[in-house]
Amino acid sequence: MKKGKSKSEAAPPTTIFLFGAHGDLVKRLLTPALYNLSRDGLLDDGLHIVGVDHNEVTDEAFAQKLEDFIREQAKAKGGSADEALDPALWARLAKRISYITGDFVADDTYAAIAKRIEENGTGNAMFYLATSPRFFSEVATRLGKAGLLKETPEAFRRVVIEKPFGSDLPTAQALNASLLSVMSENQIYRIDHYLGKETVQNILVSRFSNGIFEAFWNNHYIDHVQITAAETVGVETRGNFYDSTGALRDMVPNHLFQLLAMVAMEPPAAFGADAVRGEKAKVIGAIRPYDKADAIKNSVRGQYAPGPKGEAGYVEEPKVDPHSQTETYVALKVMIDNWRWMGVPFYLRTGKRMSVRDTEIAICFKQAPYAQFRDTEVDDIKSNYLHIQIQPDEGMWFDLQAKKPGPALDMQNVRLGFAYKDFFEMQPSTGYETLIYDCLIGDQTLFQRADNIENGWRAVQPFLDAWADAGKVRMYAAGTDGPQAADDLLARDDRAWRPLG
Ligand code: BG6
Repeated sequence: MKKGKSKSEAAPPTTIFLFGAHGDLVKRLLTPALYNLSRDGLLDDGLHIVGVDHNEVTDEAFAQKLEDFIREQAKAKGGSADEALDPALWARLAKRISYITGDFVADDTYAAIAKRIEENGTGNAMFYLATSPRFFSEVATRLGKAGLLKETPEAFRRVVIEKPFGSDLPTAQALNASLLSVMSENQIYRIDHYLGKETVQNILVSRFSNGIFEAFWNNHYIDHVQITAAETVGVETRGNFYDSTGALRDMVPNHLFQLLAMVAMEPPAAFGADAVRGEKAKVIGAIRPYDKADAIKNSVRGQYAPGPKGEAGYVEEPKVDPHSQTETYVALKVMIDNWRWMGVPFYLRTGKRMSVRDTEIAICFKQAPYAQFRDTEVDDIKSNYLHIQIQPDEGMWFDLQAKKPGPALDMQNVRLGFAYKDFFEMQPSTGYETLIYDCLIGDQTLFQRADNIENGWRAVQPFLDAWADAGKVRMYAAGTDGPQAADDLLARDDRAWRPLG
């Protein structure tokens, strides 16, 4: 077998500009990810990190702030600050951290960036927009206007964009058009942090490297698929953002559709960006567009009410409108109109303040016929399920039926499974390591292409439109499993959600 490219070498020297340097993302995820990459020897000594934001701080104070934060976070998680940071390793990275005080909409900022690129001795630059989404188009346009997005054979220029990428189909299309007017698609890295998760990447690897799966991965053998992302956290400090966003926009066109695409896409011709993203675009594009009546019939939106243990209801959270009808839970039934999946419903649900944290995919196989068990103790044959557990307790297992020991012919559900922790030693990681590294080496496979994003919005747009003038959200108590109507959505089809957790 021919060997592919190695991903164990240090990424090329680059200056990474972090726009929104004082924001949460830089502190909580990007800095630890860069530190972990440097620990693993994947960053070149010519890599520079430059914070860009409006606050006035010195280079040293900025580096110190990031260091303090990593230490605090380690302590908050019950670990030791010294174990979280190797002082010698951090010192090597810290001396390449600097800062530019600048307004995102002022020409001076971009002149300072151009100068810093010259000083750093490498023409490669990565502009990471960890800002509020209202700056995405503005910053990109200004980078373009300042000539900072011009590539040469020796120097790449790449832009990383966080979510939310638009708030519906027209705004996503407008943002794509604006970005593509100043750079080409191969310079744009649209992040969906779910694609940085090992277990999400493993879906494709397991599906396409194990010969047994392909044989039954279709509508002849699969009855339906359930995709769940349940969270115990509420909206925390993000009331402002969340109240104008809601669970559907926040989780479905991006994270849940990425999971759906991994399960449902056709085998790509190669594990490269074009092939993988081409197949994803096709399958997301094949999701049936509902009319208004079908969108209402096939969706449930809920909002958390105060919980039995004194948990606050959504409308009592800071910065949330006390009369808000924003959903914190959504359940959908979607159909994929292609040969492989015709007639197989995909049920999706996600919610905040649920009973447990559980992100999983459950693939339910068609039931075995009952006739041969008619004269036995068995009164019901359970369906087989393949579970792909994304988090927590990452792993995969099959639910099978086995005979209970004893003279009678009776059976029980048993589990055949593998847990990541039993096979692999995993270094602490944020999930952003792979994404940053891939951007540095120019691999776009784990980033969303314009058509992936737009197809995702196209598939959720009917729900957004239908809800705009439909009745109120259903309530569910905080700390429970969502509104009753979500159970009814499956009961109508003689099916039931898998228990959470
Ligand atoms: C983010 C959403 O994209 O994903 C959050 O904005 C959500 O609301 C988070 O909590 C979930 O990510 P994870 O990795 O914790 O499943």
